[in-house]
Amino acid sequence: ELVSQIKGLDDMESILKRELGYKKIIVVPGDSDKDPNVKKELGNVAALYLSSVIRHKDIIALTGGSTIKEMVNSFPKMDFRDNLIVPARGSLGRIIDIQSNNVVAALAEKVGANYKLLNVPDNLSNESLEVLLKEKEIREVVDYIRNTQILVLGIGRADKMAARRGLSEEEITKLLEEGAVGEAFGTYFGKSGKSIRRINSVGICLDDFKDVQHMIAVTGGSSKAEAIEAVRLHNRNAVLITDEGAARKIVSIL
Ligand code: F6P
Repeated sequence: ELVSQIKGLDDMESILKRELGYKKIIVVPGDSDKDPNVKKELGNVAALYLSSVIRHKDIIALTGGSTIKEMVNSFPKMDFRDNLIVPARGSLGRIIDIQSNNVVAALAEKVGANYKLLNVPDNLSNESLEVLLKEKEIREVVDYIRNTQILVLGIGRADKMAARRGLSEEEITKLLEEGAVGEAFGTYFGKSGKSIRRINSVGICLDDFKDVQHMIAVTGGSSKAEAIEAVRLHNRNAVLITDEGAARKIVSIL
């Protein structure tokens, strides 16, 4: 029983590292579902971690979501003027506040970095994608994303993300019936990493980041435990920053 191996946060970190395949796990005390301050702390720890790994001239790609937004909000005052920040995927197009474009611009302004935006929806047909990729401005941002050194991404529940993306109730039911539990970077995962469905953004998926130097997943809350367990990034440089509420529950369902 994995649960019986737990004494403190350190034990939990090593179990999660081993079972979910991360290089490093950081667990913040508390449960962000129960206390908004824990989500702030999660953002704060993620901000400190990211700021400690950024090097001169690195390109940093960010996904959207409320957790990544917390990270940007608590980013320390630093000077990264020779860095470039890009959205990792297209925008959702609906909740302006937590779109990747928005968090990218906010972080860039905070640290004086350069940034590029990607004004395309994140669920394109292959035909529209082909046309869009012919646009020089879009092509350029896609090339930056492909050459990024640091990817920071959120992880969400499949049901919540499908609703956020505006899927109909029928489509959501179908997705969940197929076993989707978690979502990261446009891919819906079933229990223990089963890939269920991938949503096209600008033709880039998680597999395109095999050589990225830092892949940092930031996500917390006990209600996301199944989602976090489901998502497997399959990357030797992947780090998970989460909270105790999620971590304890993940260990109990492993
Ligand atoms: O839409 C971007 C995204 O990073 C998703 O890939 C992820 O599931 C979600 O946001 C996480 O959002 P939140 O941090 O608000 O739960």
